[in-house]
Order: sequence, then structure tokens, then C-alpha cells
Amino acid sequence: MQPLVLGIETSCDETAVGIVHGRKLLANVISSSVEQHARFGGVVPEVASRAHLEAMQQVIAQALKDAKVNLSDVDALAVTAGPGLIGALLVGVSSASGLALGLNKPLYGVNHLSAHIAVDALDNEEKIQPSIALLVSGGHSSILQVNNLASDVIVKGATIDDAAGEAFDKIARIMGLGFPGGPVVDREAKLGSKDAINFPRGLTHANDLAAHQYDFSFSGLKTAVARYLQQTPNYKKADVAASFQEAVVDVLLQKSIAACKESGIDNLVIAGGVAANSRLRELAQERCSSAKIRLRIPPAGLCTDNGAMVAALGSLAISEGINPSQTGISADSAAGISQVIW
Ligand code: KG4
Ligand code: ZN
Repeated sequence: MQPLVLGIETSCDETAVGIVHGRKLLANVISSSVEQHARFGGVVPEVASRAHLEAMQQVIAQALKDAKVNLSDVDALAVTAGPGLIGALLVGVSSASGLALGLNKPLYGVNHLSAHIAVDALDNEEKIQPSIALLVSGGHSSILQVNNLASDVIVKGATIDDAAGEAFDKIARIMGLGFPGGPVVDREAKLGSKDAINFPRGLTHANDLAAHQYDFSFSGLKTAVARYLQQTPNYKKADVAASFQEAVVDVLLQKSIAACKESGIDNLVIAGGVAANSRLRELAQERCSSAKIRLRIPPAGLCTDNGAMVAALGSLAISEGINPSQTGISADSAAGISQVIW
């Protein structure tokens, strides 16, 4: 029998609840406090925590309504226990713990990064493992070898400075495009030329590859864009956006495809908020089909933070026979990818 799992996500500025039945997505409700943070140019932790408290009950109620189930039908709870903003995480963990205790149902504290990858399994009959995963979000950018998402993930490389999403956010800020930067740069780039400016591709030269074959660096690119803006008074925003985006996407894909080839794994999963990027999706399709790599990217709406991914990982943990978390688990703001279930 497939379990009905309710997943809660509050690691950043989205209060999100998803409900899955096995691998079938039944509900995905998101309430975002992004507008309250926009004028600060970044997420303000205390504001995010308060917004989670205010939104939680309503978001849970809406998800149950959308899924056409009652709270008493839920077989298990899942919640993001890390990494993320500690105050924000604690609102989700406390809510989920209260529900689990009240309903006398198991609770799975899950890793946010693994959950981004787990969402790929929803409504997908075929499981692709082992796979190489490119995980690109606002806080993380890494290349992983996923032998088993719940128990065997090897980190092949990661960013040595900014995350890919953070680079989009910073570039959008210096060009005055707004926050969060990813979606606005993506939109602006459609109006410009990706070949207008040849921005640097970090850690792709032969002398860097020896030590950093699968690592990323975006700080040099950020400096190059800032210098270009300073030196070019009449720059075209759309050209800068498109050329910057191309530099990021090009490096992400060069390294992911190299990781597939070197490891002999011809499955690539791209996940995390930046996987919503339209140019990344398009170029990944092109390069993977010429390299004969099977590509999977979740629908754009499931790439950015959501509750469905948390429920999906909870459901996976149950199907793998993993024990639920202890009552009274806490959150870990700095959890690494090796801690999948608490
Ligand atoms: O995974 P996510 O929703 O939250 C974290 O776990 O960090 O990722 C958010 C990041 C932000 O930096 C945002 O600018 C970026 O994902 N992002 C995008 C796009 N949509 C969101 N980056 C590039 N293109 C997009 N369309
Ligand atoms: Zn995320």
C-alpha cells in the first residue's frame, strides 16, 4: 500500500506544504514572504520566521483541501530539518512534530538538498539510479553521484565561493533588476544576446581542473560583470543578463556532463531553484542529447522550494524501510548532504 505523506518546508522564505500518495503528487501549496524581503535585497530571517508562523495553518488546510483528504488520512509527516535558516526551520519542525504527536503518526525529518533531488521521482515511473545530480540553489551548488538518494550519495564537487543562485541574485541587485535575481535575469536575458560579452568561465582552465575538476567558482564572474558595468556607461541590460547567464549555465553543464562521462553514468538529474532557469533547461537538453545522456529536470514549479519535494523524500524513506525520526528532533541549519533523514 502506498503511504499518504504530508511534507512541510520552511527552510527559507516559502511556507510550503505538499501531499503525495506514494509517488503521486496530490497537493502543492506555497505561501511566500518574498515581497516582505524584496526591499532589503535578501531574506531577513526574523521576518521569514514570523511569516511561517502566520501562514502555516492556512497552508496545511489548503493542501488537505486540494488533495481531497482529511488530516486523519495522513500516514506520515515529513519536514525539512536542515539546512536553512534556523528560526525558519524550527517553525516547520515544531509544526510537524506537533502534528505527528497529535495524530500518532511517524515523522521524518529530511534534508532539504536531498529533497530537491527526490522531487524528480514524483509522477515518474522509472527510477534513474545511479545518476549524476547537478544541485543548484540559492545556497548550494554541487555535483553529486547518487547511487541511492537515501543512503549513498558521493559529493564530486561544490562551489568554492558563491552558489549559482546567489550569483544570479547578486548580478540582479547590481543591475537594479530586483529580488530574487534568478527569474528576473532569466526574463531579461530573453531580450538580449548571449554572445554579446564573453564573461569568464570559472575553474574551467587546465591549470584549475587538476584541483577543482568538479568545483565551481562564481566570484570572478561577478567581479567581471561589475567591472563591465562600471566601464560601459551605456551597457544593454539584456545583453549583460544573457551573457552572464550563458557563462553560468555553460560551466554548470560542462562539468556535469564531464562527471557523467568520467563515471560512466549516463543519467543526469538537475535540481534546485536554478534548475528553473529556461536557458539551463534548453542547453542541458541539447548537450545531453548529443552526449547520449538521459536527462531529467523536474517541472520548473517543483525546482524552487516547495513542500512536495519534502513529502517525496519522506515517501522514499518509507519505501526504503528507513526508521522514522525520534520525537523531539531539532533542526540543523548547516546540515550536509550526507545526513538525509534525521
Ligand atoms: O532552491 P531554492 O528555491 O532555494 C534554496 O534552497 O536556496 O533556490 C533559490 C535560488 C535563488 O537564488 C533564485 O534566484 C534562483 O534559485 N532561481 C533561479 C531561477 N528561479 C530561481 N535562477 C536562475 N533562473 C531562474 N529562473
Ligand atoms: Zn531549496
